Amino acid sequence: MANTQKITIPYVKQKKLDQQPITMLTAYDFPSARLVDKAGVDIILVGDSLAMTVMGHPNTLAVTMDEMIHHSKMVARGAERALLIGDMPFMSFQAGVTEAIKNAGRFLKEGGMEGVKLEGGRVVLEKIRAIVDCEIPVMGHIGLTPQSVTKLGGYRVQGKTALTAQQLIADAIALQEAGCFAIVLEAVPVSVAEIISSEISIPTIGIGAGKHCDGQVLVFHDLLGYYHLHTPKFVKQYANLNKIISEAVSRYCKDVEQKKFPTEKQSFKMLEKEMKKLKKMR
Ligand code: KIV
Repeated sequence: MANTQKITIPYVKQKKLDQQPITMLTAYDFPSARLVDKAGVDIILVGDSLAMTVMGHPNTLAVTMDEMIHHSKMVARGAERALLIGDMPFMSFQAGVTEAIKNAGRFLKEGGMEGVKLEGGRVVLEKIRAIVDCEIPVMGHIGLTPQSVTKLGGYRVQGKTALTAQQLIADAIALQEAGCFAIVLEAVPVSVAEIISSEISIPTIGIGAGKHCDGQVLVFHDLLGYYHLHTPKFVKQYANLNKIISEAVSRYCKDVEQKKFPTEKQSFKMLEKEMKKLKKMR
């Protein structure tokens, strides 16, 4: 029988202690949240990746707070069990502590989320501390941080040298000390993720960070083969929705063109006596 227990932050932290892998997936609307939740995923992230996968932007920078709240509300209506985390979009926290607190609060008050995720290491510590001080749970995100794509010059693996790996480890420790309840590690070498996961007591959730993380996260559209552009090396596709959907839509078009749809099965009938009356009336 499926576990129907509501997922909480203490539960997620306990999973690390019990060495039970944590599952996390993005969802962006009512149907995707419902499916992900019913399948038993622990954490649903309303990721700013929706700028690309749902809105068609070339990267995550354009999505606004209002748009993130709009999608968070849909996800909150679709999920009953999973822990719900809203992703703070580009420039919703960078400009200052007050702005960061205000926008993090919107995710909980308006969006129905239970925590927020913020990209960045030691440079965003002040904002993380301030949000945590408002009793808002924060998930950190280090390694490849897609909001820094212009500075990084592309989506590249981070922490490949001893020096940059050491900086990532220091970032992870600082985020834990600032009060984060978990940290996403994106596109970092397996060995670096292993060191971080063993050195901190809060869970690490990996995406392209190997098997030693305490949990794993993927983007909904990547896992399902529902995004037609780039699929990163670290993605495992469990379905090919692009193929399934385009074949179904082509079959529909063909049926309409060949007058094979709708048939009697999909049509409504008038009562015989009403039909007779109608004929007399005309
Ligand atoms: O926005 C997103 O989907 C993310 C995940 C890749 C962790 O940040």
